[in-house]
Amino acid sequence: MSNSNARAAIVTGGARGIGAATARRLAADGFAVGVVDLDEKQCADTVSAIESAGGEALAVGADVSDSEQANAAVARVADELGAPLVLVNNAGVLRDNLLFKMSDEDWDTVMSVHLRGSFVMTRAAQAHMIEAKWGRIVNLSSTSALGNRGQANYSTAKAGLQGFTKTLAIELGKFGVTANAIAPGFIATDMTKATAERVGMSFEDFSQAAISMIPVGRAGHPDDIANTVSFFVGEQAGFVSGQVIYVAGGPKA
Ligand SMILES: NC(=O)c1ccc[n+]([C@@H]2O[C@H](COP(=O)([O-])OP(=O)(O)OC[C@H]3O[C@@H](n4cnc5c(N)ncnc54)[C@H](O)[C@@H]3O)[C@@H](O)[C@H]2O)c1
Repeated sequence: MSNSNARAAIVTGGARGIGAATARRLAADGFAVGVVDLDEKQCADTVSAIESAGGEALAVGADVSDSEQANAAVARVADELGAPLVLVNNAGVLRDNLLFKMSDEDWDTVMSVHLRGSFVMTRAAQAHMIEAKWGRIVNLSSTSALGNRGQANYSTAKAGLQGFTKTLAIELGKFGVTANAIAPGFIATDMTKATAERVGMSFEDFSQAAISMIPVGRAGHPDDIANTVSFFVGEQAGFVSGQVIYVAGGPKA
């Protein structure tokens, strides 16, 4: 059990990108953060950034799409940091392709990580939130939920997460638990770098093309999403539940 009085939070996919920025932000907000990613070693940078800033964090290796690993990750955070009362379901993968070329495996992988992963992590963590009569769940959707060429699997999963969020809000509200979703637009991370590579563009050209469509005229940064997570997790957002907020520099990307 942690020595500090900090409440514990879990961020999945916390090794890099949006998850790493979110883990750092929640630590700065006073949470002890379980940084969950596929390989415990991958989480070292996020954990050391949090510790050097005076916060508390724990690296946990788990594939969130595997319910045994998800249960074990939540149990480990509960043992070592205290009951996780905040869960950010951020882990994600892309397997983009046009519909006629998309394999069964590419469909199943995206569903497993985003949908099954968020489901099994939430099922494990909600027990702690209900016991504490307080909790915050934030799911990472995407502007792709509105439809995006080459992303039949991903857009379906990200739209599914919006339905999941609303149902969590209805089922868990009476226990003091809120559930909300963030739908980011274009955020500069390894994920968007990989997309640029796949379509054969330099990241700079790819970013410029995206930025030309964004009303505020810039790319999003992981901190833009971390700031929104921080809002949903704060006490001041206790009456905000079942919502989807598009953080995209405009109404949609
Ligand atoms: N970058 C964007 O423009 C953007 C836009 C909309 C939504 N999102 C969503 O935000 C989230 C974070 O995106 P990012 O850009 O930081 O991506 P990223 O690829 O940089 O990071 C994703 C992290 O998730 C981890 N991960 C993948 N599968 C996992 C699994 N099965 N178990 C545990 N960890 C796993 C990866 O190892 C990686 O560290 C994702 O859900 C993504 O779909 C991103």
